[in-house]
Amino acid sequence: MMDESPTPEQFAGQYGVPVAEAREYLTLAAELDERERRCLADILAAVDGPVVELGAGAGEFTRELLARYLKPGQRLYALERLETVARKLRETIGDGRLEVLVSDSRRVPLPDGAAALVISRVALHDFVSDDGDIAAALRDCVRVLMPGGVFLVYDKVTDGFADVERESAEGRMERINVQLAALEGKRCWGLHRLRHYHELLLRLGLDGIRHEVLPRPDRPGYVADLKRRLDQARPGYVKSWGEGVHAVLDSFLAEVDGLPNRALPLAMVWGRKQVRG
Ligand SMILES: C[S@@+](CC[C@H](N)C(=O)[O-])C[C@H]1O[C@@H](n2cnc3c(N)ncnc32)[C@H](O)[C@@H]1O
Repeated sequence: MMDESPTPEQFAGQYGVPVAEAREYLTLAAELDERERRCLADILAAVDGPVVELGAGAGEFTRELLARYLKPGQRLYALERLETVARKLRETIGDGRLEVLVSDSRRVPLPDGAAALVISRVALHDFVSDDGDIAAALRDCVRVLMPGGVFLVYDKVTDGFADVERESAEGRMERINVQLAALEGKRCWGLHRLRHYHELLLRLGLDGIRHEVLPRPDRPGYVADLKRRLDQARPGYVKSWGEGVHAVLDSFLAEVDGLPNRALPLAMVWGRKQVRG
């Protein structure tokens, strides 16, 4: 989702692409962002009570939730496993409705039934745990959901790709997360298909599962921009994961120029916690 839209001329200048290509991309991206927002607004309008966001990261979606969807006084708990990332979230988002929880999703520091909605955006493919069992990593997040509450995940999916790592530079890029997790002896869930998200919600015991697939346009200048951002991030990655990072990034850089710039679609999948008794 794009926060503030640049003009085609600004976009073209920033990413070194023709203005006509930038204009076509921005028009399509704005239409799709609007569809995504309508979907989220429909689901969130009916949520009355605290919200838990899983894997808040740099807080792009946390800001969106607070600015667009949450009502005055509605509490938002943003869960993030990394202390440094969580600290930055606290420092950069000054909103009295927000509480940042530094914790792994296996142990959510909230009582049973505390939340009306548990939501995660573009985070689960990046979720790490010792055994890579994503359902086990999320079971405690269902405990904190009240009966009848909504569990909504949305993420990039590989539907439409026979071999995502060969057919999409973005698909290849996402494998970096899996390789970095292996450097710390952990497993990252990685990219999956829509049906895997359905199966996940069924395993978590949720009812009335529904989905919406949102295509994303291929972004002009994506590969050059990605290479530049990875170069900037390299020293930080080495600090977190050690010298093994160089082999991961160098093998990515050796392959990525030959790959098509095809964006992965987003799938929004949601269900409700059963009301028993
Ligand atoms: C791709 S980022 C999320 C992006 C964010 N949702 C956004 O829209 O900007 C995924 C985040 O999930 C966190 N994470 C990974 N595994 C986790 C776990 N088991 N429990 C909690 N957070 C986790 C990572 O540290 C990372 O910050």
